Amino acid sequence: MFGRILNKIDEEFLKSEPRKGELFAVSALFDTPDQIITSAEKVSGSGYRRFDVLTPYPMHGLDNAMRLRETKIGWVGLLAGMSGTTLAFLMIWWMVGIDYKNVIGGKPFFNIAPSIPIMFELTVLLSALTLVAFLIAVFNKLPSNANPLMATEFMKHVTSDKFGIYIEAKDPKFNQNEIKSLFSSLGASEVYDINEVSYDEGKTKNPILDFKFVGNLIGVGIVTAILSYFTLNYLLFLPPFNWMHHQAKVLPQSESKFFNDGFSMRKPVEGTVARGFIPYEFKGMHDSLVVETPNPLPVTKEILEKGKKNFDIYCSPCHGYYGKGDSRLRGQFPVPPTLHSEKVRSWKDANIYHVITNGQNVMPSYEKQISRDDRWAIIHYLRVLQRSQNAPDSDFEGK
Ligand code: HEC
Repeated sequence: MFGRILNKIDEEFLKSEPRKGELFAVSALFDTPDQIITSAEKVSGSGYRRFDVLTPYPMHGLDNAMRLRETKIGWVGLLAGMSGTTLAFLMIWWMVGIDYKNVIGGKPFFNIAPSIPIMFELTVLLSALTLVAFLIAVFNKLPSNANPLMATEFMKHVTSDKFGIYIEAKDPKFNQNEIKSLFSSLGASEVYDINEVSYDEGKTKNPILDFKFVGNLIGVGIVTAILSYFTLNYLLFLPPFNWMHHQAKVLPQSESKFFNDGFSMRKPVEGTVARGFIPYEFKGMHDSLVVETPNPLPVTKEILEKGKKNFDIYCSPCHGYYGKGDSRLRGQFPVPPTLHSEKVRSWKDANIYHVITNGQNVMPSYEKQISRDDRWAIIHYLRVLQRSQNAPDSDFEGK
């Protein structure tokens, strides 16, 4: 099917033949690369200047055979590039050094180093644009909108299966019959005359304004615009495209349709243990079963202060600020015993820890409210309270 479409396009293009314009060139097709090299040598050797060779692929030795001189297009690029560099230099120098001085970190207004990227960019930009414009204007010979070789049987072959050469009618040595017999003697498989295209039967003087040409340009422009519009505005945003700020995620305290119960926050799986936090292993056990672990915290000012703070917050409402059992709850809760009793004083720290964590009779557990370390800190502070009420004689002797 693809082949058929291509053929159709071919036919459409070749419709313009035979053309009615002036003679542009005489061309010949050869079957082998050797033939085209010999022909190129012969043609350039015979003194023809306005000729060219077209081959389906680049061929070594062709430049020499054609006696081509070094192309001058590089000089155009160099000139354009250098004006780009200069222009950029002047532009930045005037903008930041004279017109709009900005103090940035105390640096000089104008400096070469940071200007280099811009100078480079403008160099490349100007040389590229100039070269393209130069190609269109000079080599494509504006205002003609295409080379007369385009859409010819000759061009069709030299871009696929044959090797072609043509000599322009403008060549000073041009003689149609002579050239034709030269090509035949070199073994050309076909020799064509190529005529200039005449637009609108010669009515359109300026081919750039040719109705078909301009119409096609406008058509391509409109199609490109429509396609870009749809691509950039719709195609790019089809699912699964998603803006980053519209992510499928659960927010704390918000509704979630993902789970049946509609909550976004989930309970951890039962038995989950937080990293670095092993649950109290003697929970609910009798005092006597508790393995006595020593208080893991050192006695420092900070820890005692932390202990005091938490004791005052969590324990003092029932036990009183000094642990004497003077509850501030005015009988709304059973008054606890004093913490200065012989019993509690002789307890190991682990016993007190057990009471705080586990609770005891009517005293509830403070496991949830007070962190592990804070519990141990409270115990250090409680020891300080106890010692303050029951100081041994040695304390008074300053030992
Ligand atoms: C809601 C009031 C309340 C709070 C708050 C409270 N306790 Fe108690 N606590 C009690 C009661 C009541 C008892 C006596 C329980 C019993 O009958 O064995 C008690 C008993 C104790 C005992 C055992 C005393 C003994 O002689 O058997 C210790 C130790 C103790 N509490 C420490 C604390 C610490 C430390 C805190 C702060 C983290 C605290 N309690 C917070 C009410 C409270």
